[in-house]
Amino acid sequence: MRKQIAAANWKMNLTLQQAEELLDELHSIPYSLDKDQEVIFGVPFPYLAQVEQKLAGRNNVYVAAQNCSDKKNGAYTGEVSAEMLQSIAVDYVIIGHSERREYFNESHTMLAGKINLCLEHGIKPIFCCGEPLAVREAGTQNSYVETQLTESLFHLTAAQLTGFVIAYEPIWAIGTGKTASNEQAQEMHAHIRSIMANQYGADVAGSISILYGGSVKANNAKDIFGQPDVDGGLVGGASMVAADFAVIINSLK
Ligand code: 13P
Repeated sequence: MRKQIAAANWKMNLTLQQAEELLDELHSIPYSLDKDQEVIFGVPFPYLAQVEQKLAGRNNVYVAAQNCSDKKNGAYTGEVSAEMLQSIAVDYVIIGHSERREYFNESHTMLAGKINLCLEHGIKPIFCCGEPLAVREAGTQNSYVETQLTESLFHLTAAQLTGFVIAYEPIWAIGTGKTASNEQAQEMHAHIRSIMANQYGADVAGSISILYGGSVKANNAKDIFGQPDVDGGLVGGASMVAADFAVIINSLK
């Protein structure tokens, strides 16, 4: 069975002290994980290692970096490589978040390169895709997302994509409080799975966890995660409120 995942993306929020307080509070609330369920914390670079230590010993709980460089190593001041993340045992990296595509001009090709470096270093990418409002209004979201997948993932092998994680985050739903409807989410997730099935077969497609992101909250997580092709969520704002994120974790299938 494919994994059901509640992933937090803290973005550029929380100091180390605030992050520790949040985790302490979250861990004072009971949440339970089955063997096919995971919780992932997308943590800013400077304290990935501290958060990892704080989570040590917890089953099915992992840390993710929010980005990595598309270069292997060398004279790239300020960049963080996949190899560096591997050296501190980071499990996942969020790749191609719409904020990085938009504000840091990350291209399909660059994202393909980052994914290759993650895989070479044993780090699992969480590959983000999703359309802006204008594309949704024009009704061309399916082909838009298909291009994102084909350009950044189709060079990979079936083995590399088995158990892969994709996050569908419609940009118009991120941080807006305007969640995609259950039907809109299911429709796009089924579309993503069929694109992967056409290229790699039903078994590979069925093994991929497709997370929904965009204004997931404590009061809508259960309905969205209940859709057959939605395998959990990538959560921004609500992941930084302990009581809310606990409810979101407990909403996993
Ligand atoms: P919000 O949950 O704040 O809408 O953010 C979603 C997101 O971008 C997660 O990566």
